[in-house]
Amino acid sequence: MAEHKRENFSSKLGIIMATAGSALGLGNIYRFPCEAGANGGGAFLIVYLVVALLIGTPLMISEFVIGRRSKSNPVGAFRRLAGKKTVWPAVGFLGVLCAFLILAFYTTVAGWTLGYLGKSVAGHFSGQNLEQIQSQFVSFTNHPWLPIVCQLLFLILTAFVVARGVKDGIERYSKILMPLLLVIMVVLCVKSLTLNGAADGLKFFFNPDFSKLNGRVLIGALGQSFFSLSIGMGALITYGSYISKDDNMTTSAVSVVLADTFVAVLAGVIIFPAAFTFGIQPEAGASLAFTTLPMVFQQMTGGYFFCLIFFLLLVIATLTSTISLLEVIVAAMTEELKITRTKAAVIGSLVTAVIGVFATLSFREGSALHISGRTVFDLLDHITASYFMPIGGLLIVLFVGWRMKRADLLDEMTNGGRLKVGVNKVIAFIIRYIAPVAIAVIFVSQLVG
Ligand code: PHE
Repeated sequence: MAEHKRENFSSKLGIIMATAGSALGLGNIYRFPCEAGANGGGAFLIVYLVVALLIGTPLMISEFVIGRRSKSNPVGAFRRLAGKKTVWPAVGFLGVLCAFLILAFYTTVAGWTLGYLGKSVAGHFSGQNLEQIQSQFVSFTNHPWLPIVCQLLFLILTAFVVARGVKDGIERYSKILMPLLLVIMVVLCVKSLTLNGAADGLKFFFNPDFSKLNGRVLIGALGQSFFSLSIGMGALITYGSYISKDDNMTTSAVSVVLADTFVAVLAGVIIFPAAFTFGIQPEAGASLAFTTLPMVFQQMTGGYFFCLIFFLLLVIATLTSTISLLEVIVAAMTEELKITRTKAAVIGSLVTAVIGVFATLSFREGSALHISGRTVFDLLDHITASYFMPIGGLLIVLFVGWRMKRADLLDEMTNGGRLKVGVNKVIAFIIRYIAPVAIAVIFVSQLVG
């Protein structure tokens, strides 16, 4: 039986960076513009901001509370806090299952980022016009084996870091790379704002057309905020279990939510002006980021260099997210099945690869891998963001708000009374009353249209 010793993050900065590492990723740079583009731009943005700040923050804190109080993986956490003979550990299982499903399709696009890093090193974009860059995207995603090889490579990289553990793996990489990504995005943003279509792009992104609001937009924004903040499926219960007893979890969570939201908005400010300048439809979906960005680099002096760094950082931002997904699986397997980290990382990524390959293949034109009108990729994305995460999130706030004693919740948020109660009371109130109602209302509104 493998001896299992739990690690902790070593500092507050480490906690924030690792959590931000999980949160920041393709959700911000790839998925957010796709969703905003498909759901009318400004109206989506406003709902997104409200949901991310108002529901996202308390939910993130709830997950930290469950994690730190139980010092356990999501399955063990509910068992420890609620008792073996309850149904609550099922919420943890749901989270682990969700981690598999997300990782499976997430690594499809993660693989593309690796492929695009290769393309930028080889200078494939220089001197290319829009049609050529668009057709590069089509031929890359339709290539018979390249996207699969990239996906598998990405999974191997992820497993490698996760196998190394919390402090030396996850924390060390996140600390250096997250700030770098932010800097390069700000540079890109400044460039995008000087393009011809900047005004139109910004208008699309910031002008809310509330006639576009419907149940689909609401659940889209809810799912996107959960996805982007890595909440509702146990990743932050797992990371919460590595937070030390002295950290102020409220301020850590607020910092991460603000950083994540900032980067999502930044991505919109980069991508929409560029899309309008080059005549790309904002609802172009998958190709949006992968065609607009190389086009922006074309317009810049030193474009080759910036393009290369950008895709390098995107790979890394994506990697810190896949790490947190695999960590959910690995923490659960090492603690529940008593196997080593390395074994768990290998088994977890193998199972993911088996599902993930179908997601990648389903992207090819004319692929038969469609289920009820959606590609396997879309289906996995849709069921996790629109069902698993909202339901998981709802159960988590219900657990923390109603099953846990209020005194225990406040005790955990204030580090046993050492921190001021102040705002934590408001957060406890949101967790108990507002968040569950809001999530339930949005969830039901999608079902009725
Ligand atoms: N938050 C990550 C992103 O935005 C994706 C993710 C979801 C990671 C769920 C972990 C858990 O890219």
